[in-house]
Amino acid sequence: MITLDGLPLSSLLSIIDRSRYIATHMRDVADTCRGRVLATLFYEPSTRTRLSFETAMLRLGGNTIGFAGAGLSSASKGESIADTVRTVCEYADVIAIRHPREGAALVAARAAARRGVPVINAGDGGHLHPTQTLADLATIRERCGRLTDLTVGLCGDLLFGRTVHSLIGALCRFGGIRFVLVSPDELAAPRWVLDQIQASGSCSYECTRDLQQVIGRLDVLYMTRVQQERFASEDEYVRLRDTYVLDHAKLQAAQPHMAVLHPLPRVHEIAVDVDADPRAAYFDQVRNGMLVRMALESAVLGDALPGWDEETANLKGDGTWK
Ligand code: NCD
Repeated sequence: MITLDGLPLSSLLSIIDRSRYIATHMRDVADTCRGRVLATLFYEPSTRTRLSFETAMLRLGGNTIGFAGAGLSSASKGESIADTVRTVCEYADVIAIRHPREGAALVAARAAARRGVPVINAGDGGHLHPTQTLADLATIRERCGRLTDLTVGLCGDLLFGRTVHSLIGALCRFGGIRFVLVSPDELAAPRWVLDQIQASGSCSYECTRDLQQVIGRLDVLYMTRVQQERFASEDEYVRLRDTYVLDHAKLQAAQPHMAVLHPLPRVHEIAVDVDADPRAAYFDQVRNGMLVRMALESAVLGDALPGWDEETANLKGDGTWK
């Protein structure tokens, strides 16, 4: 799975639904992937994404192999992604890959296709991050009760933030979303993302630099880190990194039901005094990240969850319960 675009909406909802089931049946699903091996090929730093992919497989009874940091793999000797992946296909049943270059996950998926090994994109450069989006959607659904008819603010680095690009793409498919894009001009969302919103027909967007002016209208505020590693100039990064800092005082202007999301890691953009506020949902996202990866890994491997019946899935197309 390189992007969520190719996944029918029903399958996407089914993964969120399965993750809810898993949350309350951890013991029942503990042997679902027994004997399976997940490989995590992480060419870029990660805490949550890699560890949640791995713990998801371990909690389903499977095992994991892999590397964290290209420096410890044969990439440091000049091996291509395709050759590394074709090698790992001989060892693993499913591969999760993170790479600093846009398109690397697609290259990996093509290399693995001939062996029939599924590849999951765990983040490719400033492009996409589909499994983070599954965690985000699960959290928004949990907090707001639906995935349509929402005013969603996305704030910070909308240019390089791959989680933002994937989330906008997915929400556009549910429809009825009013996007409020908050960023400095230099970090505005790329044209291809704006075009996606326009093409959806039922979603709209507005761009602003002023978070305080719009915060009172939002159902969801998705904060992001300014992506230091994707800047060509350190000075430019230093100039822009603290543009938005959400703190307890600023949150006073928000609606009581607004959910604050952040894919993490945070640097300065959310003050720690926000953590105790009931609107802070970013550690719920972390837990949902593990649960959706459990749902996804078992689904792509075709391993049935004991007691789970696809027919009894109970999420409707708009993300509300049946
Ligand atoms: C994000 C990523 O790596 O794109 N983090 C994550 O996967 N949870 C966001 C970020 O690094 O800022």
